[in-house]
Amino acid sequence: MSAKIIDGKAISQQIKDELKEKTAALKEKGIEVTLAVILVGEDPASQVYVRNKKRACEYIGYNSLSYELPAETSQEELLKLIDELNGRKDVDGILVQMPLPKHIDEKTVINAIDPSKDVDGFHPINVGALVVGDKGFVSCTPAGVIQLLKRGTDGYDISGKECVIIGRSNIVGKPMSLLMLRENATVTIAHSRTKNLEEVCKRADIIIAAVGKAGVITRDHVKEGAVVIDVGINRSKDGKLCGDVKYDEVSEIASYITPVPGGVGPMTIAMLMNNCYEAALLHNA
Ligand code: GUN
Repeated sequence: MSAKIIDGKAISQQIKDELKEKTAALKEKGIEVTLAVILVGEDPASQVYVRNKKRACEYIGYNSLSYELPAETSQEELLKLIDELNGRKDVDGILVQMPLPKHIDEKTVINAIDPSKDVDGFHPINVGALVVGDKGFVSCTPAGVIQLLKRGTDGYDISGKECVIIGRSNIVGKPMSLLMLRENATVTIAHSRTKNLEEVCKRADIIIAAVGKAGVITRDHVKEGAVVIDVGINRSKDGKLCGDVKYDEVSEIASYITPVPGGVGPMTIAMLMNNCYEAALLHNA
C-alpha cells in the first residue's frame, strides 16, 4: 500500500483564494487589512520567510508595512516601534520574525505586542485563551496542520483517535497538542526524554513529527494505516530540504502523509494570512 499525499501547496492556495475573495468583500465595506512585518538583522532564512509573507499579503490584497532593521538595533528601539504599531488604528497585525539577535529577549518582545494584533499567536494571552478554550489567535503552523487533516484526508475523523505529537516547543508541539485535544483526539506528547519512542509512536493513529532532526521517524515508529504529518524542515548533508520523517519508507505503510517540501510549510503562511483577516474583523467590529 502506498500513502495518499496531503498536498499542502494546494490546500494553502485554496485558503489564500478564499481569503482573497473575503478581503475584496471587506474592501467594499471600506475595511482594509494591514500587516506590519518586522525583521531585525540579515538571517538569510528569515529574509526568505519575510519576503514570502509580504508576497502573500500582496496576493490576497492586504497592505503590508515592512520594517527591516539592522542587527545592532537595540531592544529599546524595537519595543518603541512595537508600541507605535500597537497604537496605530490602521495596523491589524504585527509580526516580529524570529529568531532575534542574541541581545534582544524574545519573550519581552512577544509580551510587548498588543494581543489583538498578535497574528503569530505567541502572546501568553493568546496561548492562555487556547488552553481554556476562549477565542484568540492560534500559532500558525499547528493551525495549518489542523487544516491539512480536515481538508486533505477525504473526511478522516480526528475525534477519538490516538494522536502522538513528537516535540514540545511553544510554537508547535504544545499548541498542537491543545488543538488536537480540541478536536477530541487522545493526545500524547513525546519528546527527547521519552522512553521507548518507537513503542509510543506505534500506538498512534495520527503522528505529528515536530522534532527538527532529519529522518528520525522511521517505518519502525509507524502503525500500518496511520496518518503522518511532518512538520520538520531540515537540510540533509547534500543540502536537500527534508523532514523529520523518512518519507520513502513511511509512505509505504501510512494511509496519508505530508511531503517536505509542499506539506506543512506552505500552510504556516496561509494561516498567518487567516489570522490577519480575523484581526481586521476584530478591529472593525
Ligand atoms: N520563525 C520561524 N517560524 C516563525 C513564525 O511562525 N513566526 C515568526 N514570527 N517567526 C518565525
